[in-house]
Amino acid sequence: MDEKMMFKNICNLSNSEIAQRYTFLGEGLCREVYSINDDYVVKVAKLDDGSYQNRVENHVYTHATKDLLKYLCPIVWFKPNRIIMRRAIPLSSLIKDKYIDLKTIRPEKESYADLNKLTNNFMLLADDIISTSSWGIYNNENVLIDYGCTSYLGDTLYTLFYNW
Ligand SMILES: Nc1ncnc2c1ncn2[C@@H]1O[C@H](COP(=O)(O)OP(=O)(O)O)[C@@H](O)[C@H]1O
Ligand SMILES: [Mg+2]
Repeated sequence: MDEKMMFKNICNLSNSEIAQRYTFLGEGLCREVYSINDDYVVKVAKLDDGSYQNRVENHVYTHATKDLLKYLCPIVWFKPNRIIMRRAIPLSSLIKDKYIDLKTIRPEKESYADLNKLTNNFMLLADDIISTSSWGIYNNENVLIDYGCTSYLGDTLYTLFYNW
């Protein structure tokens, strides 16, 4: 079976079928995350808010400019209540601090400005972007694995514009 077929099939499973078949990795307020294999995870929306976060995350991934895309863990499949993402090593499994240092999380000299631009352009929740739990290591680089949470203003505007 090719990967596209596999992603499609997984996204059509119910929440309980996913929970039975795959290993639970972790959860936030709105989504449960399961490992599909060594390469991919599936994020399952728990409540209505979970699909909102999936929609935002996919919007950010599909609308980020090339200079910002490199900070994002790639999304390979999307349905509002499912996201299939590349599997990363959660930074929280290696670092116990609650927050990362936005100035040193990436080696590029423009990364601090880029990450602020990403946060502002997409109205993401700044506190989430500096949370250790939102970062992982993918392809030997630190990338955001959770970029679906918006600021109070973002919540209002995305809902207004997109009706999410
Ligand atoms: N791409 C990923 N690779 C590996 N683990 C992940 C990935 N995305 C999320 N996780 C794990 O699942 C947890 C919850 O995911 P997250 O996206 O933060 O959910 P929420 O948006 O509900 O907070 C993370 O803290 C992390 O441990
Ligand atoms: Mg989270």
